[in-house]
Amino acid sequence: MKKVTVVGAGNVGATCADVLAQKNFLDEVVLIDIKEGFAEGKALDIWEAAAINHFDTRVNGYTNDYSKTAGSEVVVITSGIPRKPGMSRDDLIATNAKIMMNVVENVMEASPDAIIIVVANPLDVMTYAAHKASGKAANKVFGMAGILDTSRYKAFLATELGVSPNDIQALLMGGHGDTMVPLKRYTTVSGIPVTDLIDDDKLDAIIDRTKKGGGEIVKLLGTSAWYAPGAAAAQMVESIVNDQNHIFPVCVSLDGQWGQNDVYLGSPVRLGRNGIEEIIEIDLNEDEMKDMETSSAAVKSVMKALDDMKLM
Ligand code: NAI
Ligand code: 2OP
Repeated sequence: MKKVTVVGAGNVGATCADVLAQKNFLDEVVLIDIKEGFAEGKALDIWEAAAINHFDTRVNGYTNDYSKTAGSEVVVITSGIPRKPGMSRDDLIATNAKIMMNVVENVMEASPDAIIIVVANPLDVMTYAAHKASGKAANKVFGMAGILDTSRYKAFLATELGVSPNDIQALLMGGHGDTMVPLKRYTTVSGIPVTDLIDDDKLDAIIDRTKKGGGEIVKLLGTSAWYAPGAAAAQMVESIVNDQNHIFPVCVSLDGQWGQNDVYLGSPVRLGRNGIEEIIEIDLNEDEMKDMETSSAAVKSVMKALDDMKLM
């Protein structure tokens, strides 16, 4: 029985459940939300499209009933609130960390062996909170951001170059935000270095747009993105459940890689049945290492803000 749970049936969670259902490799997707009837409604709507979209995966929704999530192989956690006007960063961290801790406790009770994928923001620090609250090994708790950020980068490059985004291979590391570390040296189009195809200033502009990609959508929609984030989380689930061993950028706890310790940063990993099968410590030059340091310092300062709240 291949079963996956998505906690939070909002924009990202419901999209993730929908993409998972349409991929049609699971027996059941369970959606959980705290809002009465919300997960039930979203799940029913997705399931009612089964005959149109040609899938058999059962999609079931429940209001806060974690007994129904028992035996999940993977749990994707999207529950959290977006930052509201007047809300400080620390208020947001405290609110979302409390939600995360409560959800992780419930998930652990129902599915103690589940692999946890964190989506809620601030991503790197919520991954830290989930890892700490779960007490699990670091290869079983990690965060989704790098696939989304890389996909945005690929989309912008594809538009500029007039090529298929599927031909672009790229890697972004570091935190999910302004300090992310795009790696020009590791970007190719069907094996051709991207720097052979595009002027440096144009590439820099695309990298800058990628760093601000989340904010660009917020400005347009008044809320954050969901189609690409939901699809990105679903791609991670597929690589794990089907033991595909794809190499993706994923937010992980670092243990000495690139000189970084006790920090959660986007890094290339091999994702398979055991979660993080391997962190691939690619070579970074001096400038890239400096960017990783900056990103690490930014994430660590938010981790410290959470630690100082003494919630855990
Ligand atoms: P949303 O507001 O549409 O959905 C969040 C859902 O969580 C709501 O339905 C709410 O009722 C539910 N919820 C709140 N507390 C809960 C609890 N204790 N248990 C179960 N459900 C609970 O928000 P959206 O757009 O789906 O975003 C979700 C999170 O994902 C946000 O924190 C957002 O910032 C983050 N995000 C992260 C991305 C990434 O790259 N990692 C990309 C896009 C969004
Ligand atoms: C995004 O990058 C806001 O994390 C969210 O779309």
